[in-house]
Amino acid sequence: MIRIEDLSMVFSPGTPDERLALKNINLSVRHGEFITIIGSNGAGKTTLYNVISGTFIPTSGKIILLNEETGKEHDITKDKEYKRARYIGRIFQNPLLGTAGNMALEHNLLIARNKGYKSLKISLNNKMRADFRNKLSILGMGLENRLGDNVGLFSGGQRQALTLLMTVMSRPALLLLDEHTAALDPHNAELVMNLTLRFAKEFNLTVMMITHNMAHALKYGTRLLMMDGGEIILDLSEEEKRNMTQEDIIQRFRDIKHSDLQNDEMLLIN
Ligand SMILES: Nc1ncnc2c1ncn2[C@@H]1O[C@H](COP(=O)(O)OP(=O)(O)O)[C@@H](O)[C@H]1O
Ligand SMILES: [Mg+2]
Repeated sequence: MIRIEDLSMVFSPGTPDERLALKNINLSVRHGEFITIIGSNGAGKTTLYNVISGTFIPTSGKIILLNEETGKEHDITKDKEYKRARYIGRIFQNPLLGTAGNMALEHNLLIARNKGYKSLKISLNNKMRADFRNKLSILGMGLENRLGDNVGLFSGGQRQALTLLMTVMSRPALLLLDEHTAALDPHNAELVMNLTLRFAKEFNLTVMMITHNMAHALKYGTRLLMMDGGEIILDLSEEEKRNMTQEDIIQRFRDIKHSDLQNDEMLLIN
């Protein structure tokens, strides 16, 4: 559904701060894949999302959106971020970013709902509220009884679960998750992870999920990518990763890079 061709991103070119954050990335993501992405800090993971979402225009290379049914291709490399946001959903580590804290829960949900309907703007009614309550009850947090409350009153875990629900309601063709459970306490992190898996399956979503949790990267999803120094250095299918351990992944890294992983952070969290 999306194809990335020879993608490179250079920050501050021609200055002493020049930084090659992405080096000739080639990647094809098929509809329905759930790709987990690992890599040390500075590997280029977030930059890859920024380029896919249109936050940055890449220095070179292409991003092609393709409709697998019709075979039609559309070069989106230079499309504006707001335009891509119609079909690319993105969730960040900070649970406050995905929802408007100064607005009532029902108004947050209305915005998410209208986004899915493109230009058709509909105002709140009781039928819609009933639908919102049904959807919120899936989260298992009691939010279905708080439609009139400002979202700013909710906990980080509640807000991230809500962000996930709202993002999924807008039916993104591609969902980009950037360590979206990393800032939550273990209980809420597990809850949001389970909701992610459930929504991905129920709505047949195409998902890319950056995680520091190597156990999660191995356990969940249909494909695992490892990035390092702006490159994808490992690309494992569901079958290939099925019987691998974290130690196997670390060994593969050593074999590829002829060095140890420099960033222990990636390895310590389970
Ligand atoms: N906006 C930016 N301006 C300059 N350099 C950046 C910017 N964003 C990222 N970088 C640099 O690009 C490299 C990759 O960063 P990033 O994609 O954030 O890595 P990751 O998400 O894997 O930790 C790093 O060296 C980082 O310092
Ligand atoms: Mg990052």
